[in-house]
Amino acid sequence: MNTSNLVGSVQSALRTPGLSLWLLVTVPFLCLAYSVIYNLYFHPLAKIPAPWYCRITRLPWDYWQLTGYLHKHTKRLHFQYGEVVRLAPNELSFASAQAWHDIFGYNKGKVQWPRHPARVPQGNNGNLKSILNTPPEEHARFRRLLNHAFSEKGLQEQEPLINKYINLFIKKVGEISKRGQPVDFTSWLQMLSFDIISDLGWNEPFNCVEKEQEHSWIQTIAATAFESQLKLVFREWGIVKLAPYFIPKHMLLARIKNFKYAKARVEDRLNSGSVRGDFWDRIIIKSGDNNEAGEGLTKAEMMVTAVTLVGTGSNTVSTLLTGLSYFLGNNPHCLKKLCEEIRATFKHDNEINIPAAAHLEYLNACLNESMRLYPPVLNLLWRVPPRGGGEVCGRWIPEMTSVNISLPAMWEDPKNFARPNDFCPERFLANKPAEFANDNMACFKPFGIGTMNCLGQNLANAQARLILAKLFLNYDMELDRTNTPADWLNQKAWAVFVKNHVYVRFTEAQKQEA
Ligand code: HEM
Repeated sequence: MNTSNLVGSVQSALRTPGLSLWLLVTVPFLCLAYSVIYNLYFHPLAKIPAPWYCRITRLPWDYWQLTGYLHKHTKRLHFQYGEVVRLAPNELSFASAQAWHDIFGYNKGKVQWPRHPARVPQGNNGNLKSILNTPPEEHARFRRLLNHAFSEKGLQEQEPLINKYINLFIKKVGEISKRGQPVDFTSWLQMLSFDIISDLGWNEPFNCVEKEQEHSWIQTIAATAFESQLKLVFREWGIVKLAPYFIPKHMLLARIKNFKYAKARVEDRLNSGSVRGDFWDRIIIKSGDNNEAGEGLTKAEMMVTAVTLVGTGSNTVSTLLTGLSYFLGNNPHCLKKLCEEIRATFKHDNEINIPAAAHLEYLNACLNESMRLYPPVLNLLWRVPPRGGGEVCGRWIPEMTSVNISLPAMWEDPKNFARPNDFCPERFLANKPAEFANDNMACFKPFGIGTMNCLGQNLANAQARLILAKLFLNYDMELDRTNTPADWLNQKAWAVFVKNHVYVRFTEAQKQEA
């Protein structure tokens, strides 16, 4: 039979109604069966433990991600299956100190694993470069330019500006407490962090604390967290273009408004050209004429950088302090110890500065313990092995496998930390009680590791220490249980927690007898 006869016979067979229907049902079924069998038994990751439903499809992962409870399910699966779990056919989660090193670490001779290209924040048209989405080679340019602003020296230049907002915050908190009202501390900490970072990043403070009102920018960021996750999930299925049809129009418009606002602020800052002790001093010097020399940032890159820094810098510090105020409120003996340390070290606000506050050992221990139980960055950006694949914890991982680590699975595991669910800052003291002697500190890296670790670590620590030292030098605090939900820790998270509100009451500090 020649080719045209064969094509003719197939065409006429297809015109037979019964056969077309049979093919319509059978072909997709066979494809599905092939995919299930392949994923279960022949996929390079087939031997990695996981429940059957995660091994055959990524739908459970998508569902957990969209509902905001991926962190809880991942922890549950690690507790059941061990230090590595296959969350979807080509998706792995690890929970061990060695995995930190293998996936995120960087040593001479080791290639830095890039962030997963489909899982990084992307502009609407997908071509805006930022510190979060560039591959390792280009990422270094962003880091070089920003490093000074986030160094110890850079921080000293920024300290007066940071203190201005903290001092106002301390005064306002006192005023509200005098009115006899509980303080919505989640919201106030959010406002303070935004005031500081918007001044450092945009030369335009929101002045939320002064006005006692959240800026619409803050509300929009919170509202668009879901949008980013939806795009992330749709991108996996190759249907990201459909995402806008599932996102309410007011959210899309609010996001565009936020971006335009940021653009205008950055342009104002660049036009001013002055040196003012903020993030931009160095970048402006290096980036003349829209970065023709290639050493600095283009205007578009500066704009994205400004948005990134304000986004990453505000939510994280406020999450850290919100979590800590909740834990201290529930552990009055820890709060008492913290107040004692601060009040024994300082007598007046003007003695408190960044280097002096860095020496408060119990305060640092409280910050660490809070990050262990309530990590400000809960989900690191996913990584993929470099070209040709890579090894994690002795296992070979093929290219384009999405990998990450689960912080709750490591940090709430009784194998790693004694009394894992209790708030025990003592475990972080140099002279720790014997019960914490075997805590596995090697797996505790709240700011990440490697060349893409947290750029703002110094700023976050400095800011948090100054706020706490000034707050508890001046006030005693009590958790307001009427307004704070009893199951406060049960929260959704999309990379960062969607924070429940913590309410507290402040009273003038009980001065110790001389
Ligand atoms: C307690 C507060 C904070 C914690 C726990 C934290 C944690 C982290 C972690 C774990 C990463 C690594 C993400 C990854 O590798 O995928 C990261 C990256 C980053 N953080 Fe923070 N962060 C905090 C505060 C800040 C602040 C105040 C800023 C300041 C603007 C900031 C800016 C950034 C930036 C720009 C990156 C990306 C760095 C890069 O790609 O080179 N963070 N942070």
